[in-house]
Amino acid sequence: LAIASIVIFANVSHAQSPVESTSTTILTRDNGAPVGDNQNSQVAGDSGPVLLQDTHLVEKLARFDRERIPERVVHARGIGVHGEFVSSADLSDITVAAPFEQAGKETPVFVRFSSVINSKGSPETIRDPRGFATKFYTEQGNWDIVGNNLPVFFIRDAIKFPDLIHSLKPSPITHKQDPNRFFDFFSNVPESTHMLTRLYSDFGTPKNYREMNGSSVNVHKFVNDRGEFKYVKFTWKSNQGEHNYTAQEAQDMQATDFNAYTTDLYDNIAQGNYPSWDLYIQTIDPSDINNFAFNPLDDTKDWYPEEIPEQKVGTMTLNRIPDNFFQETEQSAFAPSNMIPGVEASEDRMLQGRLFSYADTHRHRLGVNNQMLPINRPRIDVVNGNQDGFGNIFNTTSDVNYQPSRREGSFSEMEAARASQLPVSGTTQQQAIEKTLNFQQAGDFYRKLDEVNREHLISNLAGDLGKVEDKEIRTEMAAFFYKADRDYGTKLAQAVDLNLGEVQQRAAELEE
Ligand code: HEM
Repeated sequence: LAIASIVIFANVSHAQSPVESTSTTILTRDNGAPVGDNQNSQVAGDSGPVLLQDTHLVEKLARFDRERIPERVVHARGIGVHGEFVSSADLSDITVAAPFEQAGKETPVFVRFSSVINSKGSPETIRDPRGFATKFYTEQGNWDIVGNNLPVFFIRDAIKFPDLIHSLKPSPITHKQDPNRFFDFFSNVPESTHMLTRLYSDFGTPKNYREMNGSSVNVHKFVNDRGEFKYVKFTWKSNQGEHNYTAQEAQDMQATDFNAYTTDLYDNIAQGNYPSWDLYIQTIDPSDINNFAFNPLDDTKDWYPEEIPEQKVGTMTLNRIPDNFFQETEQSAFAPSNMIPGVEASEDRMLQGRLFSYADTHRHRLGVNNQMLPINRPRIDVVNGNQDGFGNIFNTTSDVNYQPSRREGSFSEMEAARASQLPVSGTTQQQAIEKTLNFQQAGDFYRKLDEVNREHLISNLAGDLGKVEDKEIRTEMAAFFYKADRDYGTKLAQAVDLNLGEVQQRAAELEE
């Protein structure tokens, strides 16, 4: 018993980094009591049934039965890494955000890379956008940039997100992903043309996570100590360069290694070859937000650096593999609503929906106290009147769990953390945005590709669109791509066996 208690103590005190098991470690139950026999259940006599009083057996099976938690409803397949962000700029003139207080400031980070549509055990190399989520553990609380590798998105209003994902996920009947379903959806959503063009280019099959850029996609605000704000977009640029697989290379890799991106990332980190990314910002003054041909708060649009200059603001290096996949990667919870003073949400309609959705799914997936889990817990004290709930491990220790109060230990607020102000006027409404410009940037992207990459795009896209049985859907999609660029639409129409005249006629009817 004495040995058992020493071992138990060692386990508790090293909860974050489990002690290496040795041949002398005594097996215990969850209550810490040593186990006498882990190989034979308690039975009645030589040949009798198993006894309910075998509490070790019952607990072992019950714990096993409950090992799975819901996987993420999207981005289920992913891998996490720890690292560090070092700011290269003092941005205190435009934001009070802690990481940018001064050049050289270091902030610990946790990053999770992911693919979107398929489930937790799916191959990593399939065509999909890739998630690039970063949690900054700052002294003003946790700040998450929950971005993707592609800088734009399929839709511009959160109300369409569940439909988008339902169409892309496996069919509820056959449980197979089906181009007939998702192109049916996309043929009613012309704003998807830009994202689809990028996704079906080789950027839809990055070579690995290290050689991939990231983007916040949605627009946020930087707010300074005078309460003034600027709209801001974030881009992570890989110092390993950006490299993609062709569709064939991705398929070959999938057949060789199901976990190719994890293998690449973890092997490189294990060898001390730490990947890094530079963080760039682009900003727009609120007074300029209406001075663009497109709506800068529309996430189907890229902000071209030629038009909106980029500024490098720091570098992130990833250098530590988590000790435990479930505890850190699987239980990590990133949310656009995790913001800190100096960072706010913009009026971007997608981001506004995301502000609700992530924290909501975390309460479902991980429980109401998910931010107490070690990977999600801020590196500073959390002080508020929130209490109790399932899995609470840091409950209030104060008698004053309400506000306002005159008593010792009452809470106070920080004036500098007040939200910035935005003048608004008008009537409540449900309207599409003006300046939709659904096709222009898709065409720009196509024209910037070299001949080989254009061919890859057409053949990748035709591979899926060609499977769509309904000619009307194929014609509508081809008309979108024709509207983006005539050469693009013409080649695609030929590749999926369509009458070019019909595609051109439909394209002529489409609004910009
Ligand atoms: C994950 C919702 C758009 C990037 C998730 C999750 C939900 C969700 C529910 C699962 C979170 C979890 O279980 O931890 C939505 C909604 C959207 C939207 C409602 C639109 C209104 C976007 C966009 C991006 C994005 C535009 C890219 C900028 C991500 C990433 C993750 C994620 C990277 C994985 C985070 C992680 O690694 O844990 N999203 N999403 N999502 N989403 Fe979105």
